[in-house]
Amino acid sequence: MSVLLLGGSPSVSSSSARLLQHVGDKLALHGHRCNTLQVRDLPAQALLHANFDDPAIVRATALLLDADAIVVATPVYKAAYTGILKAFLDLLPQDGLDGKLVLPLATGGSQSHMLVLDYALRPVLASLAARFILPGIYATSDQLRWNAATGLTLDAPIAARVARGVEQFSTELFALPQQRLQAQHTLHSLAV
Ligand SMILES: Cc1cc2nc3c(=O)[nH]c(=O)nc-3n(C[C@H](O)[C@H](O)[C@H](O)COP(=O)(O)O)c2cc1C
Repeated sequence: MSVLLLGGSPSVSSSSARLLQHVGDKLALHGHRCNTLQVRDLPAQALLHANFDDPAIVRATALLLDADAIVVATPVYKAAYTGILKAFLDLLPQDGLDGKLVLPLATGGSQSHMLVLDYALRPVLASLAARFILPGIYATSDQLRWNAATGLTLDAPIAARVARGVEQFSTELFALPQQRLQAQHTLHSLAV
């Protein structure tokens, strides 16, 4: 199944992007095809001016619409998700996540804002008609250690949460075609 890894950090050297890639690597081991979209790579002017027709925005939107599932990662900025992530989500069709599974990830400077996932990001994902939003995974920057030679090391509780989240996401993802068929069948039965 196809998964879009959507990164919402403006930083080049980003802990949330590393966590996102880590989750993507694990999903690839389960046999899923992952594409990555970092919102920071989209043209800033198009994002700020809500230019729906910009070719890079059109391509990014198509990438998202084509995916069966999304893993979205954001750092906490001022007790919420980032502005650039919102700028991109604002450019999606109203039902842009229709039928998709979503796994939200966030990193923050402290545990104080871990509810950002539930109180800020989840309502936006739900308003875009996501089919099933899995419990989010939150890590503080010091629970993620980066070394250019050895890569990303997660504290044990985060590693366990990531393992559980990936397992559940992958299971739900493989069940998606069957659920879609059942939904179509139900709609068809209601129509006749
Ligand atoms: C502008 C800005 C605002 C931030 N606001 C918060 C905040 O409100 N709460 C928090 O826990 N961390 C906050 N942080 C810390 C980041 O969330 C944290 O360092 C995160 O891991 C950075 O992720 P990134 O490397 O992917 O950008 C803020 C950082 C920046 C640069």
